Amino acid sequence: MDKIVIQGGARLDGEIEVSGAKNASLPILAATLLSSEPQTLLGIPKLMDVTTTQKLLQRMGAKITEQDGTCSVQVGTVENCEASYDLVKTMRASILVLGPLVARCGEAHVSLPGGCAIGARPIQLHLTALEKMGAEIKIEHGMIHAKAGKLKGAKIYFELPTVTGTENLMMAATLAEGTTTIENAACEPEIVDLAQFLNACGARINGAGTDRITIQGVASLKGASYRVMPDRIEAGTFMIAAAITKGDLVIRHGRSEHLVSVIDKLRGAGATISEEKDLLRVKGGAIHAVDVKTLPYPGFPTDMQAQMMALMSISDGLSVITETIFENRFNHVAELRRMGAQIRLEGNHAVIKGVPKLSGAPVMASDLRASASLILAGLVAQGETEVLRIYHLDRGYERIEEKLSKVGATIRRVKGSA
Ligand code: EPZ
Repeated sequence: MDKIVIQGGARLDGEIEVSGAKNASLPILAATLLSSEPQTLLGIPKLMDVTTTQKLLQRMGAKITEQDGTCSVQVGTVENCEASYDLVKTMRASILVLGPLVARCGEAHVSLPGGCAIGARPIQLHLTALEKMGAEIKIEHGMIHAKAGKLKGAKIYFELPTVTGTENLMMAATLAEGTTTIENAACEPEIVDLAQFLNACGARINGAGTDRITIQGVASLKGASYRVMPDRIEAGTFMIAAAITKGDLVIRHGRSEHLVSVIDKLRGAGATISEEKDLLRVKGGAIHAVDVKTLPYPGFPTDMQAQMMALMSISDGLSVITETIFENRFNHVAELRRMGAQIRLEGNHAVIKGVPKLSGAPVMASDLRASASLILAGLVAQGETEVLRIYHLDRGYERIEEKLSKVGATIRRVKGSA
C-alpha cells in the first residue's frame, strides 16, 4: 500500500486547480444507464471511485472510452442488471445504479451496501420511495431485488434530506409514467448538476437545488454532452491548506456560490478570501477558534468537518465541532492526537483546544476525508508525517500530492510501502 510523506513547515503559495466533482461524476455516470444513446462527459476526474463506477457500468454492458478528460459512455442495451458485492463493498455509491436500472430495465439486483468507517449508512429511504413508485423490493442474501413494470410517478417525502436517495429517485422518475414530486429533497449542488445533465438528455426536472423537486416522466432519454461541476470539497480542502500554512493560494475553478458556509467559517477563523469568476483566492493569517456544526446543504458540509478540525487544532483558542450527519465521523481525532492535537470527544461534539504546533508522526488514514485532514495537519506539523493507507485518499482526490507540491509543499508518494 502507498503512503504519503510530508515535511511540514512550507507556506503554500501559487495557483492550484480543482478537478471535476467526485460526487457529481458518480451519479451522472450512473445516469448514463437511462439512455441507449452515446453520452459525452467532460471533466470526469481520475479517481478510484470513478474507475469502480465505470467497471460496474461495463459489467452491465456499457461501452466506455476515455481520452484527454473526455469520457464517452454508451449503454446500447443493458446486458445484465446486477451490481454484485465485490464492487459494491468497495464503493457504497454503487447504490446509485438502482434507480436507473429499475427505470430502464424494470428490474435491478444490487448488493446492499454495507456500512463504512463513518457510519451504518442505511438506504431504506431509497427503497421505500421506489416502492411508492410501484417497484416490488425484496432483500435476500444481502442483495436488493427490485422489480417493476413501468414505474409510476408518486409523491415522495424524505424524512431526511438524503443526497444519493434524492439522486436515485430523481433518475428513476425521469422515465416513469406521470409526475413525481420529492419533498424534503437534498439541495446539494451535485444534485443540480445531475438534474442539468438529465435535462440535457431530455428529462423534465424542475426545482433541483431546492427541497421540492418535480420530475415529469418522458418516454426515453437521448444522448448529451456535459461538463461536470468542479469539486467543491476539493476546493474547500485547498482553502484550508492555504489557511493552515498561512499561505496564499489561487484556487482555480473554486466556485464561491458552492462554498458559502465554508467561506463564512474560514473568514471567521482569520483567512482573507476573495471571490472572482471561477476562482477563489485564500490568504492565511492568524488562526482563530470558531465553532462548526455540520448540516445538510447549504449548511457546513460534513465532508469538510475533518479538514476544519485540522485547522482548529492549531487555532488560538477553544472550538467545538459538532457532527450531525454521520454517527461515527471522528476517526481522524485519534490520529490528530498522535500529532499533538488536544481534542476531547463528547458524543457528537469534538472540543478542540488549539496548540501552538503539531508534531509530525506516522498516522493512519481511515476514510476519505480523514486522510485529507491528516495531509493538512502534516503540511504544518514540525518534522515528518507519514500518512498510511492512502487508498482512502485516492478515492476522492486526484493527484493531491502533485498539486500540493506545485505550490510549495514538501510532499511525496512512496509506492507500495507497508
Ligand atoms: C452523500 O452520501 C455523499 N456521497 C457523502 O460524501 C456525503 O458525506 C453525504 O452525501 C452527506 O452530504 C456521495 O454523494 C457519493 P445521505 P449519502 O444519504 O447520500 C442517513 C464523501 O466523502 N440516511 O445524504 O450516502 C444517513 O445515515 C462522501 O465524498 C438514512 O438514515 O448520504 C446519514 O446520516 C462521504 N437512511 C444521513 O441520512 C437512508 O435511507 C445523510 O446521508 C439514507 C440516508
